[in-house]
Amino acid sequence: MRESNLTRRQFINAASAGAVAALGSRSAPVLGSAGQSTQKLAVLGGRPVRSTPFVSWPIVEAADEQAVLEALRSGLWSRGKLVAGVEKRFAEMMGSAYCLLTGSGTQALHAAIHVSGIGATDEVLTTPYTFVATIDAIFLEEALPVFVDIDPETFQIDPDKLEEKITENTRAILPVHINGGVADMDKINAVAQKHRLKVIEDACQSVLAEWRGKKVGTLGDLGCLSFQTSKNLTCGEGGAILGDDEQVIDRCFSFHNFGRPKGKYMPRDKGGHPILGTKYRISTLHAALLDSQMDRVEEQTRIRAANADYLRAGLKEIPGIIPRKDYRQTTRTAYYKYALRYKKEFFNDVPRSKFLSALKAEGIPCSWGLGVLEGLPLNKEGLIEETLNSQNFQKIYSSRRLQQYREQNQCPLGEELSQEVFGFPGELLLGATKDMDDVVDAIQKIYRNRDKLS
Ligand SMILES: Cc1ncc(COP(=O)(O)O)c(C=O)c1O
Repeated sequence: MRESNLTRRQFINAASAGAVAALGSRSAPVLGSAGQSTQKLAVLGGRPVRSTPFVSWPIVEAADEQAVLEALRSGLWSRGKLVAGVEKRFAEMMGSAYCLLTGSGTQALHAAIHVSGIGATDEVLTTPYTFVATIDAIFLEEALPVFVDIDPETFQIDPDKLEEKITENTRAILPVHINGGVADMDKINAVAQKHRLKVIEDACQSVLAEWRGKKVGTLGDLGCLSFQTSKNLTCGEGGAILGDDEQVIDRCFSFHNFGRPKGKYMPRDKGGHPILGTKYRISTLHAALLDSQMDRVEEQTRIRAANADYLRAGLKEIPGIIPRKDYRQTTRTAYYKYALRYKKEFFNDVPRSKFLSALKAEGIPCSWGLGVLEGLPLNKEGLIEETLNSQNFQKIYSSRRLQQYREQNQCPLGEELSQEVFGFPGELLLGATKDMDDVVDAIQKIYRNRDKLS
């Protein structure tokens, strides 16, 4: 296990003395001012704005070590008794009737799609701005992910474009609450209700985010979460399915446990494996770590949000740097990543890759990935054509239908976003306000020296 650079006490002290107290007190950056901003860029040999590390992730405390040690010594390393207790706790924390923990968010998504009866010839409406696992889970059930373009301000699926993509084959909407934000669940649920579609939320990036005071993952029929290492609530690898229908969650349980019967709805006279299943179980060791990490996620989420507000105020005056927005009904943002657009036309046409190299050289961790690899939105990723051309899909779908799918697979706003988006890791928001100031100072410095980069 990796130790964090700051102890828990240090980072909470720093944050409460800085981020929370000073919230809103950062004055707008003065782009013409002297100081750091006028100095030589670090990428060109100058002194970096920042030479000390930011908060690193994951954060490990003695309580985590104790929890894992106890699980280790219990001898129950696979799914044991402890797991059901953690499921109950997580369901309560999220405001859901039931929770099933899984080995990953991808497994949660696959199980939720499978149990919802989605399969060959069906279509699922989803977004091109997501992580690949969303799409994999749909294709693995031999259904087609139908991409609906994004809202350019929130980066979420555009709910006003859903209806134009609905066909007689549409079975579900799979909104992804991206970058810690929340998709417009009022409109999504209204469309789903009107067309009798299931709603499966991919909330893998947004644990504890809220829409009108309700947590993501509890806003549709089923909600899927991820506890992979980078996530705000983590146990290394893990996932969860949330739902209020006991029968459906029992079926998810059976599916994730080799199809073995679970609960009162499953037939008991059809052998030990009445339904098809696989093995998607979480281990006791992972659940114990999750339980321990859960003690801190509330407080961490508050700190992330306070620092995000402070950072936004600081970035406001820099031309061409546009943070992702949230809808008015988003009562809480989780800030898994702090995502922004980089508009190169404001930076003398310096390409995003060069801008990010300069920012990294100033000591600021940043990336342009965020699920959009190699600058391609997911609807243009190689796996799409590979899957459509597979023997399996060629047997299921007529060439006419596949051709139509290809022609309609256009999301110009998602494509534009994939060219412009960049972000800071969420853990950067766990630091002190000085950390946010450094981020703003570094971008300001690059802005002022943009002519030297182009
Ligand atoms: C939007 C989204 N969906 C699904 C997943 C898959 O979760 P996991 O890595 O736990 O399988 C991720 C993980 O990054 C994600 O960001």
